[in-house]
Amino acid sequence: MSGIMAENEAKIKYLYINTIGCQMNVYDSRQIEKKLKASGYQTTDSIEKADLIIVNTCSVRDKAEQKAFSFLGRLINLKRKKPALIIGVGGCVAQQEGARILKRVPFVDLVFGTRAINRLPGLLDKIASKRYRLVDVELTETIDESALVANMENTHQTTAFVTIMRGCDNYCTYCVVPAVRGREISRKPADIFKEVQALVESGVREITLLGQNVNSYGKKESLCTFPELLAMLDKLDRLERIRFTTSHPKDLSESLIYAFRNLSKLCNHIHLPVQSGSDRILKRMNRKYNRQEYIAKIDKLRGICPDIAITSDIIVGFPGETKSDFKETLDLLETVQYDSAFAFKYSDRPNAPATRFGEKVSDQEKTERLQELLILQEQFTRQKNTALVGSNALILVEGLSKKENARSEATALLDVQWTGRTSTHKVVNFQISEDALNRHLNETDLIGRIINVSIEVAFAHSLWGTANEIAPGLSDVKGGKSHAA
Ligand code: 5AD
Ligand code: SF4
Repeated sequence: MSGIMAENEAKIKYLYINTIGCQMNVYDSRQIEKKLKASGYQTTDSIEKADLIIVNTCSVRDKAEQKAFSFLGRLINLKRKKPALIIGVGGCVAQQEGARILKRVPFVDLVFGTRAINRLPGLLDKIASKRYRLVDVELTETIDESALVANMENTHQTTAFVTIMRGCDNYCTYCVVPAVRGREISRKPADIFKEVQALVESGVREITLLGQNVNSYGKKESLCTFPELLAMLDKLDRLERIRFTTSHPKDLSESLIYAFRNLSKLCNHIHLPVQSGSDRILKRMNRKYNRQEYIAKIDKLRGICPDIAITSDIIVGFPGETKSDFKETLDLLETVQYDSAFAFKYSDRPNAPATRFGEKVSDQEKTERLQELLILQEQFTRQKNTALVGSNALILVEGLSKKENARSEATALLDVQWTGRTSTHKVVNFQISEDALNRHLNETDLIGRIINVSIEVAFAHSLWGTANEIAPGLSDVKGGKSHAA
């Protein structure tokens, strides 16, 4: 028997993926796993065990790109010990740098771009049999829909990403995305629906639809509109929550704004990156809206959906940004009062037009502006979180919080800390009251359910509370969209 086992084990090939960057890369990494499963690869968390190591890279900012190269640098010893190990570099840096990566990192075997995932098995076969080093950065291939829905299985996941479109046609002057992810292409609604349906069947209760600019979904191909796609998904049984990201403010339509009010599963949160509060800088960024238009859209959103949480991305130190431009960004933060915001120091990207702009802002100035902005935003984030203390919120339970997850055996459920999010995307860690527990439940019953949590403490980036009731069927009410009474 042990002989047979040894033989079978020898046939399993292990895949280790390191994913850097945005949700789109997380989604792509899952597609890579699914695609390679059919070629006999099993995903592992142990890098030493791996026969194939893939780093799925991000090049949106210089820091992310450096992270990929420093990870690759650390692989040299593994490769020396195990010469048959295949090392592949995928994603945006692969697309951007192509064959230059083979030169820079001599032990990399494969460089594959953002639209080469479907060709991976063939590329790996060639490498394994002939020990070629290969580069495939063709931007032509679209998504192989049959491959996406196939291989769906129970993943014990509560939340999942679904890419609905790839690429971007907006050409913001700081951004590398149009160069590395290609022109915008939308997937067909029926294929998206099938994929979401399969995810729901495998246990997923919340999906986040991904695209660089979901508001322009389907326009080029004359498919349905994005709000129509949302309305279609809103009808799916057992799907509790729908989110999406990212929305370009210039294309935020009235019908999308109304969707927040009309669709019961669409969560009360929109990520609407403003990037700058100065009209002069917005123009140089080629954002195609001005401050006033942006604020008018925020007002409209809040008028129609008063509970909506709004988050943003902001770049500080864009070329030519003066102190007074920066003050306008701070002023916009005061006006809008985001629930939270990501802020970044501007960084030059290869082939992005702003890289050639003059009047660069010094790194020290960028650091100071970033700090000032983050301190201001933190006040608003705290205020918004503090305002929730004493209220009840409907939380989709995602699992044990990280600390508890590490425990090998959770014997006393009462002591265990759970985690989930509000409809407004705020992280809530919570315990379950003894009374509620007595009426229930084990861990698997809880995960993926929407439960009522009373919020007791606000932290800078999360909330803490107690679940006093885990009523059966609560999960059937309204996707946890509104706060419970
Ligand atoms: N420098 C700094 N931040 C950038 N972003 C995109 N490109 C750059 C760049 N060159 C930020 C934007 C975008 C987020 C994903 O990353 O704020 O919304
Ligand atoms: Fe980049 Fe602008 Fe496209 Fe977003 S909308 S991906 S920032 S070019």
